[in-house]
Order: sequence, then C-alpha cells, then structure tokens
Amino acid sequence: MDVMEAIRTRRSIRKYLPDPVPDEALATVLEAARLAPTACNNQAIRIVVVKDATQREQLIEACKGQKFVGQAPVVLVGCALEADSYPKQAGWLNTFAIDTTIVFDHVTLAATSLGLGTCWVGAFEEGAVQKVLGIPANWRVVCLMPLGTPAEQPDARPRKTLEELVSEDGW
Ligand SMILES: Cc1cc2nc3c(=O)[nH]c(=O)nc-3n(C[C@H](O)[C@H](O)[C@H](O)COP(=O)(O)O)c2cc1C
Repeated sequence: MDVMEAIRTRRSIRKYLPDPVPDEALATVLEAARLAPTACNNQAIRIVVVKDATQREQLIEACKGQKFVGQAPVVLVGCALEADSYPKQAGWLNTFAIDTTIVFDHVTLAATSLGLGTCWVGAFEEGAVQKVLGIPANWRVVCLMPLGTPAEQPDARPRKTLEELVSEDGW
C-alpha cells in the first residue's frame, strides 16, 4: 500500500477483534514511529506498549470510560519528556506534543498499511495513565492509541473541501 492509499483509507477504529497483533507487524509499526522527525532531532519520546489485559482494563477508566481502548489487544501510550524537547522561545511552541503527534501519525499510517486499525485517544486523565503504567511525573502523556485488527469498517468521515482549507499567495 502506498502512502496516499494509507492516508485515504485510514479511519479511527473503535471496535477491535481480540486477535493478537503479530510481533512482526508491531515491530514494523514501532520502526515507523522510531523514524519520525522531531525538533532538533531531540527524540525526547517514549512509547509504552501495553498488552497486559489488567493494565488495558485500567486504561479504560483512565480514558474516561472509553471501552474500546481496552478492547484492542495492544495500546500504545505516547509519552514525551517536556524538559528535553525543543524549548519554548519567541514564536515557537514547546515541541513535545508536536513531536509525539508526528511519531503517532507515522504509527497510524504504518498500521493502516498492514491492515491494522488505530484511534488517536486524547481524552484521558494524565495522572491516572501515569499511575497505571508507572510513568514518571516529568514524562507527559500526549496520547493513547489502541492497535489491533479492525472489527468495523467505518465510512470516511467528512472533511472540509480544499477551497475551505487552502488559500494561495496570502490569507
Ligand atoms: C487530538 C485528537 C484527540 C482525539 N481523541 C479521541 C478520543 O479521546 N476518543 C475517540 O474516540 N476519538 C478521538 N479522536 C479521533 C477523532 O474523533 C477522529 O480522528 C475524527 O473524528 C475523524 O475521524 P477519522 O479519524 O476516522 O478520520 C481524537 C483525534 C485527535 C486528532
């Protein structure tokens, strides 16, 4: 599958089969994450791979009761060391969330290319996720991402038209 096909066919998946993710597929997804760019190449990122059923169950609660998070056989948790990311300066945002987002966009597209589903999960209690997985307080939790074989095939969700999205030579 080429990149544009992965971009076109990726969906947020909220129903998963219980089948385990093959080790080779997981390794490919994590390699895609590893190769993502970060500001100044700081790579102040860590991904916690959660397969343990008890921990996945606890993550449902930490994600405000979103059951599908624990139903996927794997949950990837995106963490960033805010202090080591590219620092705030005039005109710049602190890059820890940007870096992690790019890493996880690689994850979504690599997973799609392998026939796996993902869903970005941004609604969670950071402290609760840190507690379940023993993540140190200075490591920010940016996202959770269930990973598994889709048990649904949602239609494409609506997007703005290019005309609504893009302007040329000025605003
Ligand atoms: C920053 C961010 C946070 C999100 N948080 C959640 C979430 O907590 N729960 C959820 O079910 N979907 C979440 N989503 C998924 C979006 O709802 C989804 O991407 C959007 O509706 C478009 O659907 P699509 O991904 O299938 O194209 C999140 C997406 C983003 C980018």
